[in-house]
Amino acid sequence: MILQPKDFQARKGNQPIAMLTAYTCPVARNIEEAGIPVILVGDTVGMVEMGFDSTRDVTLEHMEYHIGAVRRGAPKTHIIGDLPYRTDRDPQTALASARRLLAAGADSIKLEGAKVAEIRALVDAGIAVVGHTGLTPQTATSFKQVGKTDTQAQQILDDARAIEAAGAFMLVIEHVPYRLAARLTEQLGIPTIGIGAGPDCDGQVLVINDALGLGDYWPPFSKQYAHASRTIAQVARDFSREVASREFPNNIIPLTGTGKT
Ligand code: KIV
Ligand code: NA
Repeated sequence: MILQPKDFQARKGNQPIAMLTAYTCPVARNIEEAGIPVILVGDTVGMVEMGFDSTRDVTLEHMEYHIGAVRRGAPKTHIIGDLPYRTDRDPQTALASARRLLAAGADSIKLEGAKVAEIRALVDAGIAVVGHTGLTPQTATSFKQVGKTDTQAQQILDDARAIEAAGAFMLVIEHVPYRLAARLTEQLGIPTIGIGAGPDCDGQVLVINDALGLGDYWPPFSKQYAHASRTIAQVARDFSREVASREFPNNIIPLTGTGKT
């Protein structure tokens, strides 16, 4: 059963929320099988899967493609669709963009920053909205931690309150000092989901490629639970050697079954 905003809100202060990103059908299928209740199809897809230097290169068409793939892999999981850069630039545009991601298979919509009018427009149209504050990569000039000065911290607190007041049901907090994330979590009525924001949030989100060790750069606050890049390189070397020696395709012992673990 797909969890709803109220189900996530009921977990605040009780049961930590585990969220992973996903961009493809097979990865989404395995994440659902593992019981993760919420998948974010983030615009990080542009950097970790498409080779762009910035999430600003991601389009609505890209997001529709990936949300569709994730929906087919995880039909019972709550899927958050990320609005790409500038597709939320005014309330009307945000609403039209959000509707496209919902039609592609998203259950709720995430957007970056205290865009109060845009969040309100979505909420008034009956769309569930996830906020995102702290480091907001679409407009950031670096990936360094934010909120270290009192002024910055106050701004993030004000933004978070505004996002909640505008009607968001959950808030992603990215790369801020742990004590600031703890204050936000305490002061807000909605669940906070941290990434690089310490242990005191109501949930945690990891970019799946970072968790898999797939890629050539992982942020210092991420954790590699596997080293998929090494596995891929090893598989390619093994295959190459076996083709050269004509060992492949002889003696194939296929792994049958569903790929379930
Ligand atoms: O796009 C994304 O994956 C995100 C997470 C890093 C929170 O916004
Ligand atoms: Na994002």
